[in-house]
Amino acid sequence: MREQIDRLRREIEYFTAENSKHLEEFRIRIAGKKGELTELFDRFKQLLPEDKKLLGRVINELKSLFESKLKEQKLLFEDSDSGETVSDKSLPASADGVGSRHPVTLIRNEILEIFSHLGFTVADGPEIEDDRHVFSALNFPPEHPARDMQDTFFVEKNPDILLRTHTSSIQVRVMESQKPPIRVVCPGRVFRNEAISARAHCIFHQVEGLYIDEEVSFADMKQTLLYFAREMFGSKTEIRLRPSYFPFTEPSAEMDVSCSICGGKGCNICKYTGWLEVLGCGMVDPNVLESCGIDSKRYSGYAFGMGIERTAMLKWQVKDLRLYFENDVRFLRQFQAAL
Ligand code: PHE
Repeated sequence: MREQIDRLRREIEYFTAENSKHLEEFRIRIAGKKGELTELFDRFKQLLPEDKKLLGRVINELKSLFESKLKEQKLLFEDSDSGETVSDKSLPASADGVGSRHPVTLIRNEILEIFSHLGFTVADGPEIEDDRHVFSALNFPPEHPARDMQDTFFVEKNPDILLRTHTSSIQVRVMESQKPPIRVVCPGRVFRNEAISARAHCIFHQVEGLYIDEEVSFADMKQTLLYFAREMFGSKTEIRLRPSYFPFTEPSAEMDVSCSICGGKGCNICKYTGWLEVLGCGMVDPNVLESCGIDSKRYSGYAFGMGIERTAMLKWQVKDLRLYFENDVRFLRQFQAAL
């Protein structure tokens, strides 16, 4: 019997479980109904009292050795639910995934960077605005139908407090607080009461630019925008300006860039026209300068505004605007390399 006890002690001491199933098998083999330790206890009961005295302590030690082994091995599998691998507590912690900038942030930074090379600084303004900064100072008279161009969200039924529909409101704030020469770009989030679809969203981002000084001409604007287009879409990019209408600029234009996908030959991205619409622009209307306290006889200026998501769509051919707002990491991860 002593020999059996010694053998069992060695077996227990050297045992290491490979997984929780293996551990359970070990437990049954030793302490199950027909287990070796159970059998030993059965035999022990039949011993003469003097033999019991001799072996009692040894056999009890064997039992507690088995119990602490079981406990120790169980701990190893507690937090591995598959039970298939031994968890090694000495392994270094796994590194967290590296995040990436949102594509809207990437494009915004790129736009700001390009204009910073031309001396433009960045200005900011509030998202909740008043009528003056979004409309009336920008030459939208009350009841003017042009206000319908941008469906507005009002705050708490107060027609004077609204969510800005464009970043041109920052342009007003800058003109009110600074003296020319003024050279700013204004990035920001804007809100329009539009149904959400692949091509429209009620929230999106814009960058507006404003340049005011003596003798600023339409040609200055054109050259600045050509520089921007080539930096943004490639050095072979051509631009074209089409007449347009905005209440705050006169004359106004829409700028197209030659399609960077087909090089102007025509493809389904540019709808076979060879051109992609990028931004609105124009010479700041003298009425706007005057309502912001700038002498329109002495100063002139240009302004332009573009959608950041739209620019991102043109650059990366992501056609569904909703992807920029859903924060699906499978989409966002694709921009990891563009840090
Ligand atoms: N604010 C105009 C828009 O949201 C864009 C624009 C800005 C046009 C500046 C001309 C000059 O559509």
